[in-house]
Amino acid sequence: MKIIKTPTAMSDLASSWRRRGLTIGFVPTMGALHQGHASLIRRARAENDRVTASVFVNPAQFGPKEDFLRYPRPFAADCALAAQEGADAVFHPEPADVYPRGSSTFVEVAGLSGLLCGAFRPGHFRGVATVVLKLLNIVQPDRAYFGEKDYQQLVVIKSMARDLALPVRVVGCPTVRESDGLAMSSRNAYLSPAQRLWAPRLHEALAWGARSSRVSLVAAVRKRILGIPGASIDYVSLVDPDTLAPAPAPKAQAVRRGLRLLAAVRIGRARLIDNVIVS
Ligand code: PAF
Repeated sequence: MKIIKTPTAMSDLASSWRRRGLTIGFVPTMGALHQGHASLIRRARAENDRVTASVFVNPAQFGPKEDFLRYPRPFAADCALAAQEGADAVFHPEPADVYPRGSSTFVEVAGLSGLLCGAFRPGHFRGVATVVLKLLNIVQPDRAYFGEKDYQQLVVIKSMARDLALPVRVVGCPTVRESDGLAMSSRNAYLSPAQRLWAPRLHEALAWGARSSRVSLVAAVRKRILGIPGASIDYVSLVDPDTLAPAPAPKAQAVRRGLRLLAAVRIGRARLIDNVIVS
């Protein structure tokens, strides 16, 4: 597996693949890879002739008080996992190469970016959309793979690809969970051992909500989440899966089918997000 440091070297390698008629699958990541990322690389491996992942902790998507500096960066282990899952290359650029001096162009998916997590993390989705567009321009893949755990991110990126007519298929992949239901996330490492024991109750609450026939479903899910020791809620929301617009309440169970129930919850130093489909 090749490790590529510069955008020029990455686009040269991808062009050489394209010239040979090979299809390219791309898995953008911020590293600290876990089994969720592994599943994206495997899916890309199954659907494309060549696979590249990127490992880049993107400064533009972190707020000034967020965890950019302490975000885990186990690069050697990331390369080992990517190689094991069959990636042909890992693109690992420096911030100065992704954001050359004087960079002043950003991508804003208006509306969607201000909802849900965007209301609590101003500028976050602008940073995500901007870096993802840059990475897509460098690699020019046929398909790009994103986890449904970051459901709003997936919707934002799909909208950007549609609005800007990007020649890429954005593929959403199911959330991978620990055996106790906790969604895999690089930020789970911030949980203390006691918090790690309580954290699966977030998914339990959402899964219960998705099955519940109560009219006041969101309020009932909030109550369950607030039962987790030390938990504070950023939001719990039942939304349209494509527009992320809040579902009009009250809704009968049959009418709610297909909606997404999303939550962001802080437990100690960790901010956990998760979502389920209402079936
Ligand atoms: O999901 C992530 O890890 C990041 O937000 C992404 C898509 C790699 C952009 O930095």
